[in-house]
Amino acid sequence: MKAYDGVAMSGDFFIVNGLGGKRALAGELPVRGSKNAALPAFSASLLFDAPLLLSNVPRISDVAAMGDIIEVLGGKMERRSADEIAVDARKTQSARLPHEPAKKMRASVILAGPLLARFGEASFPHPGGCVIGARPIDIFMDAFEKMGAHCEEDKQEYRVHAPKTGLCGADIFFRQPTVTGTETLMLAATRARGTTFLRNAAMEPEVVFLAELLQSGGADICGVGTPTIEIRGNKQPLLAPKKSARVIPDRIEAGSFLILAALLGKEMLITNCIPEHIRILIEFLRGAGVSIEETNTALRVRTGATLKPYKSFSIKTHEYPGFPTDLQAPLAVFLTQASGEALIHETIFDGRLAYTSDLVSMGADISLWDAHRATVRGPRKLKGRELHGPDLRAGLAYLIAALVARGTSVVGNAALIDRGYERIEERLASIGATIERVSN
Ligand code: EPU
Repeated sequence: MKAYDGVAMSGDFFIVNGLGGKRALAGELPVRGSKNAALPAFSASLLFDAPLLLSNVPRISDVAAMGDIIEVLGGKMERRSADEIAVDARKTQSARLPHEPAKKMRASVILAGPLLARFGEASFPHPGGCVIGARPIDIFMDAFEKMGAHCEEDKQEYRVHAPKTGLCGADIFFRQPTVTGTETLMLAATRARGTTFLRNAAMEPEVVFLAELLQSGGADICGVGTPTIEIRGNKQPLLAPKKSARVIPDRIEAGSFLILAALLGKEMLITNCIPEHIRILIEFLRGAGVSIEETNTALRVRTGATLKPYKSFSIKTHEYPGFPTDLQAPLAVFLTQASGEALIHETIFDGRLAYTSDLVSMGADISLWDAHRATVRGPRKLKGRELHGPDLRAGLAYLIAALVARGTSVVGNAALIDRGYERIEERLASIGATIERVSN
């Protein structure tokens, strides 16, 4: 291929030297803190009476964008060390989210919960985020109304007002489990009058992390990690936790690294992770023939040079502890190298299989049946290509596919990958990958 000449991309891109399927990567790969746990924790800072200290915070652009939003509202974010951040939202004065950064990031909507609880009002643009299908917030608005708020919307923004007496506790049944919805309502209910029940709530580890953070400041929450969460509200700010809260490792990064190790690792150790959070992926990969050893915080993958191809398997994405939608694209790359036919059934989002056409352009044998289902047949040899990831998780999947392929690939939209993965090219270089970032 003519490498990267003529690539019309704005922003940074990566040039990746494919290994042609050779298992050549070796060494230790530590997982960084989770984006989707860190961002709600920043929102939680609005409920505390002192700066909130968070460690294991990844250096990613979404964290920087969230810091910008908090500063526009009147708070302060300060990086104290390589991985520790202090968020001081005590002086927050505005309840109106700045449109530009908030529109780009789905997690910005989580701020509506604490703003509403603290100021009795919140206004925000429709939260954007990655292009993975429709991402409505109707469930959030219905729940705010159940807590006594009045919600309006026009073309520009949503405006939510609590009654003069503040939000009141309510019995809320989510017609669909929603991760950011559960987090937003949990934050709002912590400082509401009376008790709130969140039923059919999300059970993801990021929700549990947020609840534990609130509990460390005195919040009265029980049932997290189950479908029914009970929150006894208290109008007082939460007390400063004694020590910094360590953001949980990113389970999607851990799972993607595990797939990379299975495909291209000679011997790879993935550290600072919680294998329990990706139990379903580990079980499927073991069933396919991948040799995985684990401790509570690390995963070791050993692959011989002359292994038979792995066995293919079908998956259906599901809320936690089911197969995460965010690991669906990296898994598709694994399946292109496994023997047999597999069905991928994406049940959470309706635009999350768009990346498959790029894998087909690399030589993968994938049939896309509709917005939710695709069949992958393998093993197939992949060739280097020019790829433009549609979202950050597919972006990392493209880097993995490019490393599996023969020849050079160009992976565009590096800015999307930077939203969730810290200095990915340097970290993958430490285990032997050759990925060059080109700044445009
Ligand atoms: N939904 C509604 N109405 C709502 C809210 C959600 O219909 O008001 C639907 C969604 O359209 C979707 C389903 O409910 O079909 C579940 O969506 P959910 O609300 O759980 O997704 P989210 O909270 O917007 C979080 C992560 C996503 C991850 C999903 C699913 C954050 C900031 N984002 O999104 O992560 O894919 O949960 O696990 O936590 C990523 O990090 O790349 C990412 C996209």
